Amino acid sequence: MAFLIVKRTSRLLMERTLRVQEGLAELSTRVQQTLSGIHVVKAYASQAYETRLFGEANARFQEHNLRLARLRGFIVPVMSTVGGVGMLVVLWYGGRRVVAGHLSIGDLVAFIAYLHLLAWPTAALGWMLSVLQRGRAAMQRLNELFLVAPAITSPPGARPIESLRGEVALRGVTFRYPGRPDGPPVLKDIDLVVPAGRTIAIVGRTGAGKTALVQLLPRLFDVEAGSVCLDGRDVRSLPLPWLRRQVGLVQQDPFLFSGTIRENVAFALDGDGRERVEWAVRAAGLTRDLAEMPAGLETIVGERGVTLSGGQKQRVALARVLVRAPQVVVLDDALSSVDAATEREMLDRLREFFRERTTILVAHRITTVKEADLIVVLDDGAIAEVGDHESLLARGRVYPDLFRQQALEVELEAI
Ligand SMILES: Nc1ncnc2c1ncn2[C@@H]1O[C@H](COP(=O)(O)OP(=O)(O)O)[C@@H](O)[C@H]1O
Ligand SMILES: [Mg+2]
Repeated sequence: MAFLIVKRTSRLLMERTLRVQEGLAELSTRVQQTLSGIHVVKAYASQAYETRLFGEANARFQEHNLRLARLRGFIVPVMSTVGGVGMLVVLWYGGRRVVAGHLSIGDLVAFIAYLHLLAWPTAALGWMLSVLQRGRAAMQRLNELFLVAPAITSPPGARPIESLRGEVALRGVTFRYPGRPDGPPVLKDIDLVVPAGRTIAIVGRTGAGKTALVQLLPRLFDVEAGSVCLDGRDVRSLPLPWLRRQVGLVQQDPFLFSGTIRENVAFALDGDGRERVEWAVRAAGLTRDLAEMPAGLETIVGERGVTLSGGQKQRVALARVLVRAPQVVVLDDALSSVDAATEREMLDRLREFFRERTTILVAHRITTVKEADLIVVLDDGAIAEVGDHESLLARGRVYPDLFRQQALEVELEAI
């Protein structure tokens, strides 16, 4: 009887356990993806969106777990009832045989004792202990995450700036990456003002600190000394989600989620934005690429966008920023994998968009840089020189070198 029950329920039990494990896998994949793309999530201030997705996966997981728990809750009492009834039968039948003289009391007692010894509770207990262990290990891992408080938060009650103009100012900024608190500063005493609505270019050798500098604007990191201000207000005094909505940073190595192109672009866009997405994709110069893809905007880009070229990934990332039309647009070498002609074309198309906004272009193509209102040359974490193309070329110390390198690259590209 017990055997039959076990047999009938074990398949069901197995299936439901599997569901639970799948749910757990789905959940951890979500967490893993969100965490490895945490810069993007933060930069687009879409914590709430991610939290919701997590909540949904979590609810499914909970449902599966409940179904499993209900089944277990059913099996355990049934099994013990069966055990109890079995014991009753043994006592009744064995008792009769003892009375009839066919069996000694000792044999009956021994038989019952063996039954007890053989009973499955021992096995079940072992199993329970292993489950408990697994649960404890899992909880420990989760706690490691739960107990981490975000290092960068905005003060409670922070108020956004009404009608933001978009002036960006860095005053006496010194910065080290948190991972290397003892190393030399990555940025040293930077003073820089970008007037609202202007376009500036930041150039410099690799490792000069360009990326570090622009990451300070949406507060992906905080300064060590000095301040970063938006319209004269320290960014640390502004609500973080609002700030990150206003400062659109296209990162150097873009992170794409493994969904469709549309999802990647519309990511963190509130409400319906079909038209906006289409506009952004066009503006980012993706029209031709999309025409060649199997499903256009609905093409799935694979884990982290593996199916796209570097240039395509960069333009999807650009579209993602354009779609939200931030007041301050920062492109951190965001078109490095796009060829010079395409870059030219795109920047021409975006001229109108950039005109009304504060634009910071980290770039290495002189043709791109030339048109900026101001060129800032970073060298070894400090501002080496500032000016326009002509004056820097005539009087600069670092810029002419960069320019010559660039001229060489253009020649090479032409070959
Ligand atoms: N996440 C990081 N943690 C610690 N150091 C970093 C990190 N990213 C970059 N660096 C270091 O900071 C310096 C400036 O880098 P970066 O701002 O990326 O330069 P650029 O963008 O001008 O090429 C480099 O010396 C680099 O090795
Ligand atoms: Mg960089």
